[in-house]
Amino acid sequence: MTVKLGGLELRNPVLTASGTFASGREFADFVELERLGAVVTKGVSLDPWDGNASPRVAETASGMLNSIGLQNPGVDAFCENDLAWLADVDVPVIVNVSGHSVAGYVGVIERLERETGVAGYEVNISCPNVDAGGMAFGTECSAAAEVTRACRVATTRLLVVKLTPNVTDIVQIARAVEAEGADALSLINTVLGMAVDVETFRPKLSRVVGGISGPAIKPIALRMVWQVSNAVSVPVIGMGGIMSADDAVEFMLVGATAVAVGTANFIDPTVTMRIVDGLAEFCHARGIERVSDLTGAMKA
Ligand SMILES: Cc1cc2nc3c(=O)[nH]c(=O)nc-3n(C[C@H](O)[C@H](O)[C@H](O)COP(=O)(O)O)c2cc1C
Repeated sequence: MTVKLGGLELRNPVLTASGTFASGREFADFVELERLGAVVTKGVSLDPWDGNASPRVAETASGMLNSIGLQNPGVDAFCENDLAWLADVDVPVIVNVSGHSVAGYVGVIERLERETGVAGYEVNISCPNVDAGGMAFGTECSAAAEVTRACRVATTRLLVVKLTPNVTDIVQIARAVEAEGADALSLINTVLGMAVDVETFRPKLSRVVGGISGPAIKPIALRMVWQVSNAVSVPVIGMGGIMSADDAVEFMLVGATAVAVGTANFIDPTVTMRIVDGLAEFCHARGIERVSDLTGAMKA
C-alpha cells in the first residue's frame, strides 16, 4: 500500500485535504490517524488570521460552498498546540502554508524548520477566499514560480504546491511550479462559485463568492489531474469530491500518486478509514500487487 512522494514514503496513498480535518485532533475519536498516509493540516499563516464574516458555508447540490478565508491562530500557536499534539502520533504531518506575500509563505516555513515532526509543506497558492495572496499566486505562472522558488530555498523537506482550478490552463502553472523545484503538486483546490437565497434575495455567503467542493467538482478535478500528470514528472496528489475507495481509484487511474479526502469528512468522519480499507480490498480482489500500480493505469 506504500507510495512515494518526493523523498517521503507513505504507508498508503490516503491523505486528508487541508481545512477539512483541522490538525487531526478533532477526528481522533473516529479515525486511527496512524493508518493514514499523512495528515495535511489546516492552512497556517505567519500571524493569526480572523477569516471572513459569517455566513461562510452553504450547501449546494452535491457539494458545499465555503469562504472561510484561512482562519487560523498563526504559526506560533500552531506549533504550541497542534504540532505538539501531533508529535505523539505516528503519522507524517504535511503542514498547509498560507501567505499574503512571498515573505509570508517563507516566514511560515522558516518558523516550522525549527520544529521536528514536520514531514513537509503544502503551499496553498490557490485559496479563492482571501483578497491578498492565496489564489492570486496560483493564477499566473510568474507568481506561482516566484513563491515556489522562495519556498524551495527555505526547505529541503517535501515541498508540495497546491494548484487552483480557477485558471484557463492549469498545465502551464503546473509546469512553472515543477521547474522551480516543487517535489509534488496537489490539485484541485475549490472551484469559484456562488449561491443566492431566493427568500431574502441575498447571496448565501457574506463574501458573495466562495469555493465549491465535494462530488460536484470531481469530474473537473479528474480532468485536471489527468492533464497535469501527463505533463509533469513529479507526483500528483489528487483531490476533489472523493467520497469512496472507487473515487480514489479513479484519481489514481488518471495519474494521481496519492489522494486527499476533504468535504467527505464532514459527512462521515470515518470516511478516510473506509477508503484505506476499500483501496486495499480493491487491489486484493483484482490481483493488483501494489496500489501504486494503479497510478496512470487508465487505458486509452
Ligand atoms: C471548509 C474548507 C476549508 C478549506 N481550507 C483549506 C485550506 O486551509 N488550505 C487549502 O489548501 N485548501 C483548503 N480547502 C480545500 C480542500 O483542501 C480541497 O482542496 C477541496 O475542498 C477539494 O476537495 P474535496 O472536494 O474533497 O473537499 C478547504 C476546503 C473546505 C471545504
